[in-house]
Amino acid sequence: MSPHISVLPNEVVESFNTPLVHQGGVLLDCTLGFGGHTSRLLEAYPKLKVIGIDKDKEALSFSKEFLAKFEERFTLLYGDFSVRALEVLKQERLVGILADIGVSSLQFDKEERGFSFKSSELDMRMDTGKPLSAKEVVNSYSLLELERIFRDYGEIREYKKMARLVVEWRKEGKITNAQELSSKIAMHFKASKIHPATLAFQALRIEVNDELGELERLLRGIFENPLEEGARVSIISFHSLEDRIIKQHFKKWEKSCICPMEVMRCECGNNHALGKNLYKKPIIATDEENRKNPRARSAKLRTFEFGK
Ligand SMILES: C[S@@+](CC[C@H](N)C(=O)[O-])C[C@H]1O[C@@H](n2cnc3c(N)ncnc32)[C@H](O)[C@@H]1O
Repeated sequence: MSPHISVLPNEVVESFNTPLVHQGGVLLDCTLGFGGHTSRLLEAYPKLKVIGIDKDKEALSFSKEFLAKFEERFTLLYGDFSVRALEVLKQERLVGILADIGVSSLQFDKEERGFSFKSSELDMRMDTGKPLSAKEVVNSYSLLELERIFRDYGEIREYKKMARLVVEWRKEGKITNAQELSSKIAMHFKASKIHPATLAFQALRIEVNDELGELERLLRGIFENPLEEGARVSIISFHSLEDRIIKQHFKKWEKSCICPMEVMRCECGNNHALGKNLYKKPIIATDEENRKNPRARSAKLRTFEFGK
């Protein structure tokens, strides 16, 4: 059984229901994870091939077996999607790109991966081959660096207090487990609807995995290597920081006039739009899906279609 339930499964399949995908071609799944979306796409579109990227080797080895029945219709790539996707974009004429960014349930649930409050580790690396872990961030970042991540990646109102306390706590000895960190935070910050450590953990995770940088670079790479007419890009995000980045990029891709602001009359030809944002509002999960899979509650799907 898969350790991860895919969010918005039907909506993702539907977002690629295009003539190009029915005809065949290659779709790039930037966040293969446990192959849930990819297997649904391969089932729904029998002529389609998928290239799947992940930087988590545990996810890749699960997917390799899980997708084996599709034989030569899928290829696995290990690494950061910002790098690997660019290589693929330069080599293949893709009919679609999917990214379901964020953490998998296995990463959250497996104690030793150190993502959850209860973990005895403080790790949070999606790619365990990379050097930077949450332990490094918490114990070696300067006060200013900690303030930056708590402010920018956690949007924590009391980010200065949070950073100052972390610096104080680590003077008493290295902070090495997530449980210790989350209970210390809970003692000093009021609980709201969410656990007081939720945003601090979000900030650490984003920093450790360079999540926003990865997303930015992926979207820039697509802009610089646009897909063919009728191809689509579908991206699922899980918090407002990511959704904002996706919205901004799609808006830029839709822009027909690229004249500088100060120009009074258009001189660029007004024909630079790469395509259109398909849904003005993001697609969200139904109540039924949210009941079955609480992770789906914060998921937002946006889709862009290339073509004049
Ligand atoms: C939410 S899960 C994807 C689940 C998948 N769609 C499914 O249905 O099984 C996200 C996956 O993307 C991977 N990931 C996140 N950011 C990545 C990046 N920048 N480069 C490569 N893989 C990444 C994570 O390791 C994780 O396995």
